[in-house]
Amino acid sequence: MPTELATERFILTRETLADAAWLADLFTARGGGTVTEAEARSRVAAMHELTSAHGIGAYVLRPRAGGAPAGYAAIIIGRGTVEEPEIAYELLADAHGNGYATEAASAVLPAAFATGRRQVWATIRPWNAASLRVLDKLGGFHRIRATSDEQGQLLWFACERPAG
Ligand SMILES: CC(C)(COP(=O)(O)OP(=O)(O)OC[C@H]1O[C@@H](n2cnc3c(N)ncnc32)[C@H](O)[C@@H]1OP(=O)(O)O)[C@@H](O)C(=O)NCCC(=O)NCCS
Repeated sequence: MPTELATERFILTRETLADAAWLADLFTARGGGTVTEAEARSRVAAMHELTSAHGIGAYVLRPRAGGAPAGYAAIIIGRGTVEEPEIAYELLADAHGNGYATEAASAVLPAAFATGRRQVWATIRPWNAASLRVLDKLGGFHRIRATSDEQGQLLWFACERPAG
């Protein structure tokens, strides 16, 4: 995938170690415990390794107008595979509700298909209405199955590379 993508309101670029502070806040906001800046730096390094090895990874939403990053949109292995990876998006709370995730994911998804990959997955908890709505607005995803784990139900969606 390219090193940079552009949308109406954002330049999407790779994570850097300088992003670790706000990424630590973002990861901590998931509610699974405090993620330190050092841990966030390790995750950035792991993301760089994924990108080096397989060409996929995370893009930071950097506002064209300047100011702090809003979050990230990514193509990761996640619950998929290198060949059929997963789309992910996560924004800081202040940035929710502006169409940012949909805007960024709308650039990241075709870039994943442009690598030759034929299918991209999304896995979402049924309570996550905002994330489900983003997928709906992206279009092309259809529900494949539901599974359960220790956190409850998980919905699996897939999107095939558009023809042409
Ligand atoms: C999911 C997330 C990335 C969405 O980001 P966002 O930029 O606010 O998304 P968008 O503005 O592009 O679209 C959100 C849509 O969900 C809708 N929505 C938000 N909360 C909702 C709710 N509780 N019930 C129903 N719809 C809701 C919004 O109205 C919007 O739809 P609309 O454009 O038709 O009005 C953001 O909420 C987030 O970071 N959540 C925490 C991390 C996460 O859950 N990531 C996904 C893991 S699968």
